[in-house]
Formats: sequence, structure tokens, C-alpha cells
Amino acid sequence: MFRLTKSTFSLCRFSSIAASRNPRFLCTDPNKTDEPFKVEEAETVNVPPPPSEKLLVLGGNGFVGSCICREALGRGLTVASLSRTGRSSIQESWANNVIWHQGNLLSDDSWKDALKGVTSVISCVGGFGSNSYMYKINGTANINAIRAATEEGVKRFVYISAADFGVANYLLQGYYEGKRAAETELLTRYTYGGVILRPGFIYGTRRVGSMKLPLGVIGSPLEMVLQHAKPLGQLPLVGPLFTPPVNVTAVAKVAVRAAMDPVFPPGIIDVYGILRYSQQKSYKSSP
Ligand SMILES: NC(=O)c1ccc[n+]([C@@H]2O[C@H](COP(=O)([O-])OP(=O)(O)OC[C@H]3O[C@@H](n4cnc5c(N)ncnc54)[C@H](OP(=O)(O)O)[C@@H]3O)[C@@H](O)[C@H]2O)c1
Repeated sequence: MFRLTKSTFSLCRFSSIAASRNPRFLCTDPNKTDEPFKVEEAETVNVPPPPSEKLLVLGGNGFVGSCICREALGRGLTVASLSRTGRSSIQESWANNVIWHQGNLLSDDSWKDALKGVTSVISCVGGFGSNSYMYKINGTANINAIRAATEEGVKRFVYISAADFGVANYLLQGYYEGKRAAETELLTRYTYGGVILRPGFIYGTRRVGSMKLPLGVIGSPLEMVLQHAKPLGQLPLVGPLFTPPVNVTAVAKVAVRAAMDPVFPPGIIDVYGILRYSQQKSYKSSP
């Protein structure tokens, strides 16, 4: 359910549409024919999703993906995950409520069965290695997923990409070329239902085998400082290095909203957009 907070809509044009349904909206003042009504975005009111909504998280057993699964389950969605190792070693109780599929987006077509009945996809598939490997995992694997999702009639697709680090991008050429190739595919195939999130460093508690790494110790204070230093980000060459880190729960919250909310604006959301959307009061984190 949505509530328009602002809009670039002619008040009287709106009134005349509304008047056909409710005469109390009728605009009678001839001097007010084209009064502009300035607005930036729509807010989502927190209501349970229809039971037919099913979310597939690609890489739902990873650092960001598992947080997205928890957020989506908390919102009452049916949640499935696809990755090469399936559930892998996750022991937490929330994992019992996820439908785990095992499959490799870079191999034959058997993984496509996981898309049956899915209404939205969030892809967290990505990684590091040699340049050619990074291109395949960040680019080709996601391009395969985007194409298969369109063929299966999936309505919305959210891709967790990465912020542009300017000069530093050259150090990870395959990673960024892969990310941008997947973004282009998404914007082409999902003009209205495709959303790209571009976080910088994501912090939270990351599982490495049986250990838990508290990345927030560094990320949280940096986020506090850098989110208010946006002008530094516009400095030539070094600017992108001041991109604020973002909490994994903020990324998860915005990703799930972007996947489920039909009026969430399509296109690219940078770090500041992620921080802004995650702070919106009308769409709080799941309990
Ligand atoms: N962490 C950060 O600070 C950060 C910052 C900016 C952007 N990002 C982006 O956010 C996304 C998630 O990052 P993360 O830190 O959560 O990474 P992660 O923990 O390594 O998760 C990657 C996920 O992708 C799955 N996967 C990899 N290759 C696959 C394939 N061929 N087929 C199916 N599944 C595959 C992995 O599971 P299996 O190994 O079981 O297949 C895993 O679940 C990535 O795209 C990353 O580039 C991360």
C-alpha cells in the first residue's frame, strides 16, 4: 500500500480525475488551473505482502544474502535461495524457513527450476579472484540469472552491485567490468522493475567458517563520519575513497523493499540513497 508524499503533478489535473470518483475533489477556481505540486517520492506503508509473493535470493547463504533472507522472512515472504553449496553451514533457526536450492549460475540449465513461481529476485552473487573469474562471477553469472528471470516472467530483479571507486577500479578491473555488464543487462531487460544497489564497503558480522568477524568495529564509526561528508566524495581522483560504509542490515532492508514494492523507483541507488531509504520511518526493519 502506498502513500504519495510529494509529486510533480498538476493539482487540478489530479482533481479532475478524482472528481469523476468523488465530487469533493472538484477544482472550481479558474486561477488555479495549473498549480504545480512538487514532490520527490512515494512512501511504502508497512503491510504484510500477499501470500502469492515469492522471493528468490541468489547467494542467500553469503554475508549479504543471509541478512536479506532474514529481513524477507521477517516481512512474511516466502523465501528461497540458490547457490553452489545450498544451505552450506548456516545453523541459525531462520535458515529452517528458507527453501534452499543448490545450483551454479555458470553451469547447465538445471538451476532454472529454482525460478518457478518466483515473483522477485535479489542477486548477491559476486566475488573476487583473477580478472577473468571476477568478470564471470560478477558479470556472466548475473547476466544468465537476469535472462532466465525474464524468460520465467519474474516481475522485479534487484542486483547488489558495488560503488564506483574511481581510480581504484583499475586494481579490480574484472570485478568492475563484470558489475557494469550485469547492470547494463538489468537496465535493458528490467526497465521498470530493475533496481541496482551500489554500496561501498558493507559492514556487519561476517561468518568465516565457524568464526564470526565483527566488521562493524571499523565500519560503523566510519559510516557516522563519512555520511555527513558527501562533498568530499566529489573531489577529483580521491573523492570516491570517501564513500561511507553501510551496514548490512540497511542494504538488506532496501533490497527487500526494492524487490517487493511495485512503485520503488527503478535504476541505480548509490550509497547515500541506500542510507536514506533505510532510514525512512514508514518502512522500519523487520522485527
Ligand atoms: N561485502 C562487501 O563489503 C560488498 C561491498 C560492495 C558490494 N558487494 C557485493 O555484494 C554482493 C554480496 O557480497 P557478499 O559479501 O555477501 O559476498 P559472499 O558472502 O561471498 O556471497 C556471494 C554469494 O554468491 C554465491 N555464489 C557465488 N558464485 C555462484 C554461482 N556461480 N552460482 C550461484 N551462487 C554463487 C555464494 O554461494 P556459494 O559459494 O555457495 O555458491 C554466496 O552465497 C556481491 O555481489 C558483492 O560484490 C559486497
